Amino acid sequence: MVPAQRVTRLPPYMFGQINAALYEKRRAGADVIDLGMGNPSDPPVDLVIDKLAEAARDPRNHGYSNSSGILNLRREVTSKYFKRFGVRLDPDTEVMVCLGSKEGFSHMCLALMGPGDTAIVPAPSFPVHVYAVALASGNVISLEVADEEKFLSNIAYTCQHLYPRPKLLILNYPHNPTAATVEQAFYDEVVRLARRYGFMVISDFAYADVAFDGYRPPSFLASPRAAEVGVEFTTMSKGYNMAGWRVGYCAGNAEMIRALGTIKGYYDYGMFQAIQIAAIVALRHTEASVEAQAQLYQQRRDVLCGGLRRIGWQVAPPKAGMFVWAPVPEPWATKMSTMNFAMKLLEEGDVAVSPGSGFGPAGEGYVRLALVENENRLRQAVRQIGRTLSGSAEQTALVDSERQD
Ligand SMILES: Cc1ncc(COP(=O)(O)O)c(C=O)c1O
Repeated sequence: MVPAQRVTRLPPYMFGQINAALYEKRRAGADVIDLGMGNPSDPPVDLVIDKLAEAARDPRNHGYSNSSGILNLRREVTSKYFKRFGVRLDPDTEVMVCLGSKEGFSHMCLALMGPGDTAIVPAPSFPVHVYAVALASGNVISLEVADEEKFLSNIAYTCQHLYPRPKLLILNYPHNPTAATVEQAFYDEVVRLARRYGFMVISDFAYADVAFDGYRPPSFLASPRAAEVGVEFTTMSKGYNMAGWRVGYCAGNAEMIRALGTIKGYYDYGMFQAIQIAAIVALRHTEASVEAQAQLYQQRRDVLCGGLRRIGWQVAPPKAGMFVWAPVPEPWATKMSTMNFAMKLLEEGDVAVSPGSGFGPAGEGYVRLALVENENRLRQAVRQIGRTLSGSAEQTALVDSERQD
């Protein structure tokens, strides 16, 4: 059987090697601490699970649903945007429910992009940001996000020099994997550029609910006239611990949302209604739990970053998101690839991390550690990493002092 070229042209999954080794280790009985994937390990609050069970018992909720999502859920999203960001949206035309934001994002790329169209994508990249464009037959230009001023000026430069001009700009703050964040003024400038050069914007706001030390990630849609040029995706996967439920939202530009709705109308019959009803309850009643969950991630961040620094690995604590983006320390940075360094931590230390190269060439030299294990497991991970890296006497001493904490 010969699959389509759009399938065969996709590169091998970069995390495949790590995942296969992780699986083998676990099968052999090793207790691997998995900081690889950003898969929340805590459950949603009971109230939400109870509502799901109750709604699942109602025979009216088992048929096909509306592929845009039920109106009351879209209203709830509208009200969250207004309360939190002061953004006014029309639930009929400017909000759509998606089967997780990844599904919505991918289908939005399919709705907007075609052969000859170009999208600007942040680098390093959450893989779907690149491959959803590629699967839609579009071209990708990757621009580094590390320095936001440079990112903005590179966007302007690309628009001035590329013909035809880029059609789409993809943004993702708080950024996965680097944890880069921005303030509202950044989005103000993006809207100005989008209006000037005529590109559309998709903001992937997956980590809207996970921020630390009082930082409040701004919404792209809160910038004046943002909804004239783009949309924003949010999700219940991260802050609400509902990753397996597959609940996400697209909000903003009505024309873009209509195009997404057209594609979705062909591809799916909407989300299980019981889940949508439970999602309404989650959005309406569990704000305090979402904040408590962010606090938990903050504590884990402190444990992991503090521990790594004590064993001599200098990492910058993130202001938001679920990840620590850590430069591979010397001497390993010059001795081996990021993939081999990640394999070393797994093989010798029983700790799984994501190699930065899995996020494209701009990620080489870094590994990403997800804050998805509890504090004790994170302390244990630091000890195991320390033992693995303790080639020098100095590092061994540091590891020993960490052991006494
Ligand atoms: C930047 C980013 N966008 C989107 C997603 C996917 O979210 P969802 O579960 O809503 O599809 C993730 C998940 O890891 C992510 O990191």
